[in-house]
Amino acid sequence: MRLTKEFRDQFIQHEMRTHGRKNGFVTTGQEARLMEWLPLVGLTKEKTLADANLPDGAPVVMEIGFGNGDFLVHLAETHPEWLLVGVEIYLPGVAKAVSRLDDAGVIERCRITQLPAQFVLTNQVAEAQLDGVFINHPDPWPKARHHKRRIIQKDFAELLVSRLKPGGFIKLASDKADLADWMRDILDVTPGLTNVAGVGGYIERDSDRPETKFEQRGNRAGRISQFLHFVKD
Ligand SMILES: C[S@@+](CC[C@H](N)C(=O)[O-])C[C@H]1O[C@@H](n2cnc3c(N)ncnc32)[C@H](O)[C@@H]1O
Repeated sequence: MRLTKEFRDQFIQHEMRTHGRKNGFVTTGQEARLMEWLPLVGLTKEKTLADANLPDGAPVVMEIGFGNGDFLVHLAETHPEWLLVGVEIYLPGVAKAVSRLDDAGVIERCRITQLPAQFVLTNQVAEAQLDGVFINHPDPWPKARHHKRRIIQKDFAELLVSRLKPGGFIKLASDKADLADWMRDILDVTPGLTNVAGVGGYIERDSDRPETKFEQRGNRAGRISQFLHFVKD
């Protein structure tokens, strides 16, 4: 099976510029699951979260850059009261995550999009609509001339804060020390946010947190992951 043009036009974005890969191999079985589930849980670019048939009143929590979806499955399994919004530009990641969420029987409480997080937050999420946001091991872009590609930037941090409810959280992880410091330093001075560990601080690793693929990769390379927790005032 190949995804039809009509399906691709609706659920797979080609035209928006992103830093990071969007395309790669998707198995026939994964394509079948995308065809089955994205019409039900996919967030197309014309829709907003308000049109996404989310039940009223439940906390809405987003994971940005969910990779293969393992952490999203963990969130759905450990927080049956949450509605989850998964945002990931890499199509093979979206395909794996849809299959895993389906296998775990939790996909109906998720909304999934392959659009870039900047677009989703700007155009599809209302002010104060989110209860929390997770960003695990975002792309490090190690060269100084590429630092502007890192997802956490001053404007992006302000956008995140505007989309959170008062009391809402942002939780981040990185196995790259300079990126962790970069994210902490930007978020520490973003108006309306408080660092739960105190300015300049990191939290302990949450004990129930599974290791994501990139945390495992960092471990194998001898890097120690660091964790950040901010709350909107
Ligand atoms: C280094 S991987 C980490 C994946 C996963 N969170 C983990 O810990 O294993 C970073 C992920 O962020 C995704 N990503 C990069 N830019 C993005 C954007 N603007 N919006 C959504 N996802 C993005 C990439 O495609 C990639 O899957």
